[in-house]
Amino acid sequence: MASTSQASSSGARTAHPEHLGHVIFIAAAAAMGGFLFGYDSSVINGAVEAIRDRYDVGSAVLAQVIAIALIGCAIGAATAGRIADRIGRIRCMQIAAVLFTVSAIGSALPFALWDLAMWRVIGGFAIGMASVIGPAYIAEVSPPAYRGRLGSFQQAAIVIGIAVSQLVNWGLLNAAGGDQRGELMGLEAWQVMLGVMVIPAVLYGLLSFAIPESPRFLVSVGKHERAKQILEEVEGKDVDFDARVAEIEHAMHREEKSSFKDLLGGSFLFKKIVWIGIGLSVFQQFVGINVAFYYSSTLWQSVGVDPTQSFFYSFTTSIINIVGTVIAMIFVDRVGRKPLALIGSVGMVIGLALEAWAFSFDLVDGKLPETQGWVALIAAHVFVLFFALSWGVVVWVFLGEMFPNRLRAAALGVAAAAQWIANWAITASFPSLAEWNLSGTYVIYTIFAALSIPFVLKFVKETKGKTLEEMG
Ligand code: GLC
Repeated sequence: MASTSQASSSGARTAHPEHLGHVIFIAAAAAMGGFLFGYDSSVINGAVEAIRDRYDVGSAVLAQVIAIALIGCAIGAATAGRIADRIGRIRCMQIAAVLFTVSAIGSALPFALWDLAMWRVIGGFAIGMASVIGPAYIAEVSPPAYRGRLGSFQQAAIVIGIAVSQLVNWGLLNAAGGDQRGELMGLEAWQVMLGVMVIPAVLYGLLSFAIPESPRFLVSVGKHERAKQILEEVEGKDVDFDARVAEIEHAMHREEKSSFKDLLGGSFLFKKIVWIGIGLSVFQQFVGINVAFYYSSTLWQSVGVDPTQSFFYSFTTSIINIVGTVIAMIFVDRVGRKPLALIGSVGMVIGLALEAWAFSFDLVDGKLPETQGWVALIAAHVFVLFFALSWGVVVWVFLGEMFPNRLRAAALGVAAAAQWIANWAITASFPSLAEWNLSGTYVIYTIFAALSIPFVLKFVKETKGKTLEEMG
């Protein structure tokens, strides 16, 4: 037998094509949580007007009912790490699947506005959990040579979830005669939009029974034999698995599970690596990506698109988002995470700066002058493309793999919670900022995109090709 360390690291790094199909299935099943994340967070756009009308609420209350789901996401993300460390990654997925199902049924059949908000918070909690458990689990089961690509399944599933929700909303709206409250199958169209989430939610739950527990979690609870079997399933036979398990165990230092205290660097402040995770999350949101998705009609109308047609244009944004994600999946294990993030930041600065320029011109009859209108439209797509081929994928991949084993679930939980709070801050502030000065708003996003460059150069370490045991 080869020497222990040689066998373990060569086995860890080389690809075993005969196992790849199986690993792809495992990663895709776990990424169903990402699909639900994308679908659930974007489907509400198609139901807003109906909710306003049915419950007779003003914009401010409506905005709260919608934004409150993001707070559920933050709480779900913050607690998922602890749950996953205690009862395992798979059980955590099953809890999320149950919550998604309950939330879909409850949101589709609410008694009043208060319980609708409550079901949305429960759904948000499940999204938050899925946003932590997907990247952590996929990183933990993937062979290093493919980890970036398999980790990008999460983001691919999120963007497909967004696109599918737009299609479902459009299809149901048309079937209901263009009225969100039009009747469909004995319900109002918006209720069906929220309710169909039951299908992917149940599928997610069922798939979680078909995939193995994470070998890193099994080692942490002393189930070494089972961990070896699973490593063999995903990494191939010609690896010294005793050495791999010893390596994982060694990297975990102690057998205790990570606690919130482990995230602290000897004081009340987080360890540097946790701050870097928070920084990645905050920059990903502060470039304003979700403004492009949640408030796309502001852009379309200012370039003269009829509001009833805005679905098609929002869908083109989704297509660009998917194309960018595929580009990232091709390159993330070849060129690495850092170069992609840097290329993306440069592209986003250009796109956002052009949007800021275009919107600095006065609107005439609610529209930009023709040239500036075109520039705004193209610039918005350039921005989404560069985001998708970089920060969209790379941040979730980084968060899944950058933390040491012992800290992973808990630290990822904190970083993802920060991301949901940042998402909330950007989406909740956009309407007032846009009223203040739309061009100035884009200048702010441009500044964050520019600042992300020195942040990545100075603080972020490349993770491509390393084993998880070499991190931290
Ligand atoms: C990333 C972001 C999410 C955003 C999505 C858009 O997953 O975390 O907030 O909606 O990309 O593609």
